[in-house]
Parts: sequence; C-alpha cells; structure tokens
Amino acid sequence: SDLSIETVEILAAADGRLDPLQQAFREKHALQCGFCTPGILMTMKAFLASRPGASEEEIREALAGNLCRCTGYQNIVKAVLWAGERLRDGADDGEEA
Ligand code: FES
Repeated sequence: SDLSIETVEILAAADGRLDPLQQAFREKHALQCGFCTPGILMTMKAFLASRPGASEEEIREALAGNLCRCTGYQNIVKAVLWAGERLRDGADDGEEA
C-alpha cells in the first residue's frame, strides 16, 4: 500500500543537527519525563508544516489528542510558537524550512 509511517527518529538530520521543533523543545524546557514527547513532536511537525503561523489557541487545539501527564502544556505551547516563528523566518530568508 502507499501508507507510510514516520516516527520521531526522522526529525534530526543525519549529521545530528536537530529539527527546529526539537531545538524549540530544548530551548523552551518543554521536556520533562519525555514520555509524550515523540507523539507531540510528530503531531506538531505535521501541524506546523501547514500552519506555521498558528496562534496559541490553535496550537492548543491541535495538541488536544496528545496527553502529557507532566506539564501544564505551557512550555510545550511556547516551544511550538517559537518553532513556528523560526519556520516563518526561514521561509522569509529563502532558506529551507
Ligand atoms: Fe512527561 Fe509529557 S513530559 S508525559
């Protein structure tokens, strides 16, 4: 079939460079136990690809299917907002997003 499944391992480049979303999670302290993190990263990767300018409210709605038992989601949302900004800046520079 044409179905393919991508997992969190594809985010970092082969040379170890982190995806902007992974950098954002580190920068904004959006990681605690990490149990939910792969699912959230992959959900937000797909979401930001189509909605890099999403608002905090839209991000929270898009996150609704991913449960984190550790946090109040505040830093996760901050990280996604930050990653969206970086994606938009990258597009403005004509660099790869
Ligand atoms: Fe622990 Fe989300 S960081 S469940």
